Amino acid sequence: MKKLTYGMVGGGPESFIGDAHRKAINIDAMATLTAGCFSRTLEKCRITGEQLGVDPQRCYASYEEMAKAEAARPDGIDFVVVVTPNVSHYPVCKAFLEAGIHVSCDKPLCLEVEQAEELARLAKEKGLLFMVTYTYMGHVTAKHIRDYIAAGKLGKIRTVMAEYPQGWLAYEGEWGGKQGAWRCDPKQSGGVNCLGDLGTHVENAVATLTGLKIKRVLAKMDVVVPGRVLDDNDVVMVEYEGGATGVYWTSQFAIGHDNDLRVRIYGENGSILWSQENCEKVTMIQRDGTIIERHRGNGGIEPGAAAYGRLPSGHTEGWLESMGNLYRSFSRCITAKKDGSFTEDMIDYPTVEAGAEGVKFVHACLRSNKEGNIWVDM
Ligand SMILES: NC(=O)c1ccc[n+]([C@@H]2O[C@H](COP(=O)([O-])OP(=O)(O)OC[C@H]3O[C@@H](n4cnc5c(N)ncnc54)[C@H](O)[C@@H]3O)[C@@H](O)[C@H]2O)c1
Repeated sequence: MKKLTYGMVGGGPESFIGDAHRKAINIDAMATLTAGCFSRTLEKCRITGEQLGVDPQRCYASYEEMAKAEAARPDGIDFVVVVTPNVSHYPVCKAFLEAGIHVSCDKPLCLEVEQAEELARLAKEKGLLFMVTYTYMGHVTAKHIRDYIAAGKLGKIRTVMAEYPQGWLAYEGEWGGKQGAWRCDPKQSGGVNCLGDLGTHVENAVATLTGLKIKRVLAKMDVVVPGRVLDDNDVVMVEYEGGATGVYWTSQFAIGHDNDLRVRIYGENGSILWSQENCEKVTMIQRDGTIIERHRGNGGIEPGAAAYGRLPSGHTEGWLESMGNLYRSFSRCITAKKDGSFTEDMIDYPTVEAGAEGVKFVHACLRSNKEGNIWVDM
């Protein structure tokens, strides 16, 4: 497969997730970084560009300039990775779609439902691929659960318990550095903090693993740590189409929890327990109570999921490999687009439509909370 090229918006000095995307893309060496608008100032953009070996001529002062210039080059980037704070996802993604460039954007997709729908429509109209990097759904064990449930082996799902507690914003007067500052700022977060940051992962994880579609939600979104203005603890009751129920919890002050996304799924034939911090294993409990622990790399993993593993069992894979798995599928799809062999069933990554579901979920919860914790249809 010929190596692709990509550009990045965000991921400048002292940022977090941009560097993780670069490392994840490098795992399979399917794409080379050739352009960037890594920061809001050209000076900082060039510092990162120099560190990463990007041609200074392709380090841009703004994402608008980058989209136009890259679209005009015969050797322009194949796709862009958008890793800026949430508030700029919509304009940045829109600029690259309009320039005819495939997009990978981090979650949450954007702030408003109308923006999400517009991005989905634009991608469709232009025939462009659009991935939203819900990182955890790249894990081999997550794909195993998805395929196992889709094959009907768990039977009808009765209820789901899902949670994503963190503890990094537990202390009054501490704002979690640069990353916490914009998450806690309504101007940069769109009037939601914890539920947008963590709840969208929960919504996407349950939707991906179970295939369940949310019918309605009832949310209690609390601002607990003194000094905060946006939610830092959320509890959401969920009813799915078909009658199953769920409870989601997200928190940023749960001291002792690092990055503790967990999903428990209870079906008529048994139960499945999964934790992203222990992502090499899945616990599956049968009808008679027998507890089975399946390990990535061993024979009990669904074959389509197992194919994403890179190392033998016990040689630990983790979060970067999970992100790498999303890029593996995304890169293959772009390559297939280029050589004319692409078909929709090749897509095995979270799409712009999945990202739009997350934005709709957040807005339904915001409305439920504002109107006195009432049930709100999705
Ligand atoms: N998938 C995941 O698990 C995961 C984890 C963490 C963060 N995220 C998401 O990634 C995004 C970035 O989060 P982060 O923690 O890396 O933030 P960050 O503050 O560490 O980094 C943001 C970067 O974007 C740059 N930037 C801001 N506006 C820009 C603009 N207009 N043009 C060019 N560069 C610009 C900043 O200079 C900085 O380098 C957020 O949307 C967040 O929700 C996802």
